[in-house]
Amino acid sequence: MSTHADSHGARDADASIRLTDSDAAIARLSAVQKGYIHDPYITHFVPRAHLQHPRPPLINVGTFVRGTAIDDLVDQWLVTVGRLGRQCQIVSMGAGSDTRFWRVATGTHKDALATYVEIDFPEITTKKAMAIRKSKELNGVLGTSPSDIRVNHGGTAIHAPKYHLLPADLRLPPATTLGNLLATSDGAGGSAILSPSLPTLLLFECVLVYMEPSSSDDVLRWFVEYFSPQETPLGALVYEMFGLGDSFGKVMVNNLKSRNVSLPGAEPYPTLETLPRRFLNTGFNGARALTLREIRRSCISAEELERLSTLEMLDEVEELDLVLEHYAVTWGLLAPAPGVQVSWGGWGLGGRPLIYEENV
Ligand SMILES: C[S@@+](CC[C@H](N)C(=O)[O-])C[C@H]1O[C@@H](n2cnc3c(N)ncnc32)[C@H](O)[C@@H]1O
Repeated sequence: MSTHADSHGARDADASIRLTDSDAAIARLSAVQKGYIHDPYITHFVPRAHLQHPRPPLINVGTFVRGTAIDDLVDQWLVTVGRLGRQCQIVSMGAGSDTRFWRVATGTHKDALATYVEIDFPEITTKKAMAIRKSKELNGVLGTSPSDIRVNHGGTAIHAPKYHLLPADLRLPPATTLGNLLATSDGAGGSAILSPSLPTLLLFECVLVYMEPSSSDDVLRWFVEYFSPQETPLGALVYEMFGLGDSFGKVMVNNLKSRNVSLPGAEPYPTLETLPRRFLNTGFNGARALTLREIRRSCISAEELERLSTLEMLDEVEELDLVLEHYAVTWGLLAPAPGVQVSWGGWGLGGRPLIYEENV
């Protein structure tokens, strides 16, 4: 039985986890201000954005490499869907202050997007809902008239024609949380928010690492079970730190511990080779992982690297490599129907083929 002190401790730990969202948003703002990336929406989600100090060059480069890799995977998904004459759904778990919905919904491949869902703790979705309501620019992308946008659940949720912001703790049993939020009616008498028959991409950017591996596996299995019966292509990508058993990793773990943040989700993944298992063990057919160091080396064009080198002086190249090799993007594909692998099997970074279950 948990004591009052226990539950207070757990609440504090959750508050510390939620604070990582501000770090992520400030890092993105910094990379925008320094010219690494373009994102006209991030300032709406960072209070007093003009007063924030830029992050060091090493962090800006990391933000650039990670953002470029994830943009590439998302764009490829949208392009494949468009080529097949279909539309898709994107579900971003632990979305925090991410601006991707606005970038996709105003971008080249916007017609391929049917539905975009963001999930986070209610404290974070409330903050995000307020930022959205305050900004004409953000609202304008959600809908053309005020009646397009409904704020629900005491200000913790937003529903718009293509966009849903939903509060949930992803550690709770997904059959009830995700099942109620996504697989049942949207509350307005309509159909479920998530159609089981549209190609769907799941994004987990720096969120599963804060959860126990068993809870993360439950979330992935819930999606696999939701889409498998309809033989619908399901893609997923995870970006986070791994390989924390070495001296660099131990320093990172201790730094976070001093901020009351622990990383139980990194424990099953001591090496790059172990990362695809998170998908292969939960029902996906194929998966692959690349470190940010490798992505920077082999997936970013020489012109882009040249452009970056003109933005800021980066003295610590060895330190940069050390940091980048502790972060990875892992992508997994469930391609249940015959022929689906033909259309979707090339999805990935740097032309790297997926590793299939039997080869692990
Ligand atoms: C490091 S931030 C990343 C935010 C965003 N994905 C990005 O990359 O910019 C981690 C986010 O995951 C959310 N998160 C962590 N654990 C969660 C849980 N159990 N349920 C829902 N959200 C969670 C946090 O509240 C926070 O917004």
